[in-house]
Amino acid sequence: MARSALLNVMVQAAFKAGRSLSRDFGEVQNLQVSLKGPSDYVSQADKKAEDVIRRELLKARPTYGFLGEESEEEKGTDGQHRWIVDPLDGTTNFLHGIPHFAVSIGLERQGEMVAGVVYNPVTDELFTAERGGGSFVNDRRMRVAARKTLTDCVIGTGVPHLGRGKHGQFLIELRNVMGEVAGIRRSGSAALDLAYVAAGRFDGFWEDGLSPWDIAAGIILIREAGGFISDRSGGNRIFETGAVVTGNERIQRELMQALKRPVE
Ligand code: IPD
Ligand code: CA
Ligand code: CA
Ligand code: CA
Repeated sequence: MARSALLNVMVQAAFKAGRSLSRDFGEVQNLQVSLKGPSDYVSQADKKAEDVIRRELLKARPTYGFLGEESEEEKGTDGQHRWIVDPLDGTTNFLHGIPHFAVSIGLERQGEMVAGVVYNPVTDELFTAERGGGSFVNDRRMRVAARKTLTDCVIGTGVPHLGRGKHGQFLIELRNVMGEVAGIRRSGSAALDLAYVAAGRFDGFWEDGLSPWDIAAGIILIREAGGFISDRSGGNRIFETGAVVTGNERIQRELMQALKRPVE
C-alpha cells in the first residue's frame, strides 16, 4: 500500500497526538476537566492533542484551512483545502478510563472529503483512506460488510448529549431499529464507529447531532471501502444536518426506512 506524502503527514500527526493522549490516559485522574455544555466535557488532553495536530498539519501545508473541535477555525489562504480534526473522539470514554477513543483527521478539497485518518492509540489501529486509493486498517484493505438483511446485522449508534438533540425521537428510532436487527452497539466514539463500518465490523450506523470533526475522516473511509453514507434523506448534506446513516448500499437503505417508521 503506497501512501501519498499528504496522507503521511496526516498519519504522522495522528501518531504524535496519539502518543500525547496515551501519556495523559495513564494519568487521567490528574487532568484538568471543564464543561462545555450539559454532560459535555473537555480536558487538557483534548486541547494538547489538538495543538500537536494543528502544528504538524499547518507546518506541512501552511495555506490550508483548519477546523478543529477545540480551537477557533482558521480560514486558510488557498481557499480550496481544509483540515477537519477531532483530536480526541470519545472524551467521555477517555475520562472514565475506557480504552476506546481515537484521533480523527480529515482533508477536504473543494467541499469533498479526499483523505481521512482515524487512529486508536490503545489498540494501535490505524484506519486510512484516500480518494481512489481504497481504505486500509494498518496494511490490510477494508471492505464494508456484505450482509443483505437487517435481521443479520450489528448496527452502531450514538445517544444525543443531554440538552443537545432530540431524545424522544432517538428512543423511537432505537425501538424501531432494535426490533429489526441482530444487535445494537453504542461505543462512545463516532469516528471509531464509522471506521468499524468501513472495516465490516459494524454492518451499519446512524447518529444525529454530530459535528463535521466527528465524521469527516469516516466519510472517506466508508466510501473507499465500498460503503454508502448520507444524511437522513439519502443526500449529501451530512455536515449541515449533523446526521449520518451508513452501511452497504442495501443496509443503508433499509436503515433509513427503519428510522422513518412510526412507532406501532
Ligand atoms: C462524541 C463522540 C460520541 C458521540 C457524540 C460526540 P467527543 O465526540 O463521538 O460517540 O455520540 O455525539 O460528540 O465529544 O468525544 O469528541
Ligand atoms: Ca467533545
Ligand atoms: Ca467527537
Ligand atoms: Ca473531541
